[in-house]
Amino acid sequence: MTTPFGPSYVRQIAPYVAGKPISEVAREFGLDEAKIVKLASNENPLGMPESAKRAMAEAVAELGRYPDSNAFELKAALSARYDVPADWITLGNGSNDILEIAAHALVEKSQAIVYAQYSFAVYALATQGLGARAIVVPAVNYGHDLDAMLAAIDADTRLVFVANPNNPTGTFIEGAKIEAFLDKVPREVVVVLDEAYTEYLPAEKRYDSIAWVRRYPNLLVSRTFSKAYGLAGLRVGFAIGQPELTDLLNRLRQPFNVNSLAQAAAIAALNDAEFLQQSAELNAAGYRKLTAAFDRLGLEYVPSDGNFVLVRVGNDDGAGSRVNLALLKQGVIVRPVGNYGLPQWLRVTIGLPEENDAFIAALEKSLTAA
Ligand SMILES: Cc1ncc(COP(=O)(O)O)c(C=O)c1O
Repeated sequence: MTTPFGPSYVRQIAPYVAGKPISEVAREFGLDEAKIVKLASNENPLGMPESAKRAMAEAVAELGRYPDSNAFELKAALSARYDVPADWITLGNGSNDILEIAAHALVEKSQAIVYAQYSFAVYALATQGLGARAIVVPAVNYGHDLDAMLAAIDADTRLVFVANPNNPTGTFIEGAKIEAFLDKVPREVVVVLDEAYTEYLPAEKRYDSIAWVRRYPNLLVSRTFSKAYGLAGLRVGFAIGQPELTDLLNRLRQPFNVNSLAQAAAIAALNDAEFLQQSAELNAAGYRKLTAAFDRLGLEYVPSDGNFVLVRVGNDDGAGSRVNLALLKQGVIVRPVGNYGLPQWLRVTIGLPEENDAFIAALEKSLTAA
């Protein structure tokens, strides 16, 4: 037998499972693409804002050139929005890129990363990709247990990932609890506070994480344009942190990791308050609709502050895949979460009213068929 390529810790990685593309489901199940409803990747059902489309169309003329590596204008816009200097901002090819860069910049193979059970899959992937040690802290009520996470930090730990709200569970940690946690985390351990869904939070749950960045040199707040801003396909995310951290991330960042169209669209989206508000309102109404249907059907769900809901579709470990298949056959794509250790559950992204209705109708049929 020949020696396999690559380190064993890379061979052991289970690749990320993305939501099934509409075209693939149409081919596999012989369905009309136009009738398929995709609620599988926590995308904004409104699509991208018109303002971003216009900005992108204008930017097309310059595509023969490399993007601005330092993204001067986008950083200036973010800097004004969050009242931090531009050198506190790192841009990523999606916030996924930020998570990966942070892990690579801060952690060696012999060291450890702490994250919660049922938290975003990329934390595990980033850890495994380094061959570093994962310290996975059991969840409480499907959410982060910050006291246990604090206790789990050991001498080798260099990074902690906290998702708020979390994906795939939608759980939310109050700001005061995060602040108390940050107060106790050792200075040499960096906390990445992943706020991919923060724009969906109702006013009463909001907290000022950027103020914490000013206080804690070991805090990196990560945000994305993929969700409420509607730019998932363009891949733009960013991190805010003090210059010592930002400088480190910048050394590992690919020089042109955010393309020109994405930079132009992100500036427009950032300034489109109306679109953001519309997205949040649509999401809140869709959440009420979906959870009312789950209540009616007697299905358990985890209260969510994201643009998705985790729902338990049966009490046996085959339930998630069985109901998922029944949904696919009816042209509804959601996300099975067996890979998260949640085989009885499905994660459904909140869609347009008609998409939510189509999902509910298909779910009812799937439950009786399953
Ligand atoms: C919690 C969380 N963080 C980060 C991301 C990465 O998103 P993106 O790379 O599109 O910014 C996601 C995407 O689903 C997410 O759910």
